[in-house]
Parts: sequence; structure tokens; C-alpha cells
Amino acid sequence: MSSKPTELTITRPDDWHLHVRDGAALKAVLPYTSRQFARAIIMPNLKPPVRTVAEAAAYRQRILDAVPSTDRFEPLMTLYLTDNTSPEEIVKAKASGFVHAVKYYPAGATTNSDSGVTDIRKCDAVFDMMQAQDLPLLLHGEVTGDDVDVFDREKVFIDRHLAPLVKRFPNLRVVVEHATTRASVEFVREAHARVGCTITPQHLLHNRNAIFKGGIRPHYYCLPILKREEDRKALLDAATSGSPKFFLGTDSAPHTKNSKETCCGAAGCFSALHALELYATAFESVGKLDQLEGFASFFGADFYGLPRNQSQVTLKRETWTIPDELPFTESGLVPLHAGEALAWKMV
Ligand code: NCD
Ligand code: ZN
Repeated sequence: MSSKPTELTITRPDDWHLHVRDGAALKAVLPYTSRQFARAIIMPNLKPPVRTVAEAAAYRQRILDAVPSTDRFEPLMTLYLTDNTSPEEIVKAKASGFVHAVKYYPAGATTNSDSGVTDIRKCDAVFDMMQAQDLPLLLHGEVTGDDVDVFDREKVFIDRHLAPLVKRFPNLRVVVEHATTRASVEFVREAHARVGCTITPQHLLHNRNAIFKGGIRPHYYCLPILKREEDRKALLDAATSGSPKFFLGTDSAPHTKNSKETCCGAAGCFSALHALELYATAFESVGKLDQLEGFASFFGADFYGLPRNQSQVTLKRETWTIPDELPFTESGLVPLHAGEALAWKMV
């Protein structure tokens, strides 16, 4: 019989892709993240989005105000790229010391992306400056529009936009956010070292069958949408490979229960409650728990040029039941795998 470890202690991880919203929602969700993670790259898709360094500074302060006094947490801010972002704002962003990246959303691709970029080729002057300033570009890598099947949008984005972009700006640091396909994994592997990739727990644990198991399951609906089993396997293989190009980004994206369980449900899975335990479950499923620390705690920091964390966290093998619902705003918040058992627990 192989003996399974009963405890796992690793360097405290960081979350390189996180939505924490604002106001009461921010206060409700931020403590889950600050309990597990030392830092997180904060997505700027508020309404209205975080477009300037001044807006990022104010948002950063609201996040810090929501950190429980028992935790230490550093929000790493991002700017939302629009058709009107200026190269001067990029210079300011780099000089601020607290803006660590710029996020590209194709207009209309996902939650709160109406102000996104309408044509990526319009942003060349900004990309030039980001390359010069070494400020990373984070990509929601999907094309929009009804001419492309929803399951193919990431692959088509790579061919149409990402591959040419990486060629045009060879020194630009790029992160393919929440990769969902074998095609993305292969692209990132073959690209130069300035191209990285975040992977979510839901894309490591599920394929698209989860959305339709016995009926429609809105809590498995996120964007980019879950893909085929061969894609999931490729992602799990990349995440557990020890390659420093692949690192943890939960894409935890809280929406009220009412806005998920409705006729036009919002996209996003909430995983901040138990993110590390979910990743541990995925890594253990392929016997690669020993690769979790690099993925969760080292490679992202190295990519962003930030120091690795000094403190540690411990997971225990202890079965517990994920709550059906957490307190949130007008209605509750349903975490990923609500009501199911989880075999790891952070202590
Ligand atoms: C995110 C959200 O709700 O803000 N939703 C999601 O499905 N991932 C937006 C995003 O990252 O696409
Ligand atoms: Zn996201």
C-alpha cells in the first residue's frame, strides 16, 4: 500500500488572477483570500473599470481596508486596457510601484468587459511602452462574436492575435490568463520565457461535462468555458510539470447566488474559500503533490520579478464539507463544489 501524506507544508502561495469586486462584496470575500494567500493580482473589471493609476490607488486602499487585522496581504494592482489607454499612463503605472500589470479584455468577452479593447492592433503604442517599461500584459485570450464557436474562442485568439502579438513585441512579458485548452498549453510551452500562463482549479478538475451533468449546472459556468477532457489533462500535465511558465491563478469570481441561478446566469466560479485545497486535490490526482509549491508559491513571483514569500501554510488531510452557501450581499455566494466533501483542509 502506498502511504499518502497526512500533511503538506509549503511556502505561502500567491494568487496571480483574482476578482474581489468592491464595497460589501469586497468585504465579504477578501478575508478568504488573505487567509490563504500573501498577495494577489487584482482584476480591474469593476463597474466602471480601473483604468488609471489614480483609480488603482483608491481601489488598493479599499482592498487593504477589507483585510482582517490578523492577516497580512498585499494587493497587486492592474489597469484595465481600453482603446483610450495612453502610453503616459503606462509610465505612471510602472513608476507607482503598486501597479504590476495591464489587463486586456476583448470588448464584450466576459463579465464587465464592455469597455474592453475593440481591436488589439489599436494598442501598439501602449504595448511598445509596456515592453519598454517591462510591465506585463495579462490576456483574456478569447475572440468574441457569433462567428466563432464558444469552445473555439481561445484557440482562435491564439492564431489570430496572440501569436502575432508575441512576434511583434518579442520583449513584452505576456500572461495567458486562465488557460483552458491544450492549444494554449502548447503555445506557452513553445514561446519564449517571457510568456507565462495561469491555470484555475476548475479547469484542472473538470471538463465541460460538469456543466451539463444531469441538468444545467450554473456554478460550473465560467469564462473561458470548461473544455474537453483532453484539454483538462493537458492543463494538469502543464501545471504539475515543474515548468516555471505555469502558475496559480484562481480566477475566483464571486457572483450572487441569484445572478448565477437564473435564466441568464453570470460567468464565474468562486474558489477563494478553498483554493489551495482544490489545487492540492488536482495535483494529488496525478501523484504530483510535490510540484504544488513551485506552481503555487514560486513561479508566479519569479515571473513578476517579486520576492518569494517567507512564511508557510499547512494543509492537513482532513475531510470536511464545503458549505452550500456563504454570506455575501443581496443573496448568498455558492462556492465551487458546494455541499461536497474535500479531503484537504488548510490549518
Ligand atoms: C470573471 C468575472 O466574473 O469577473 N468571470 C469568469 O467567468 N471568469 C471575468 C473573467 O475573468 O473572465
Ligand atoms: Zn478572471
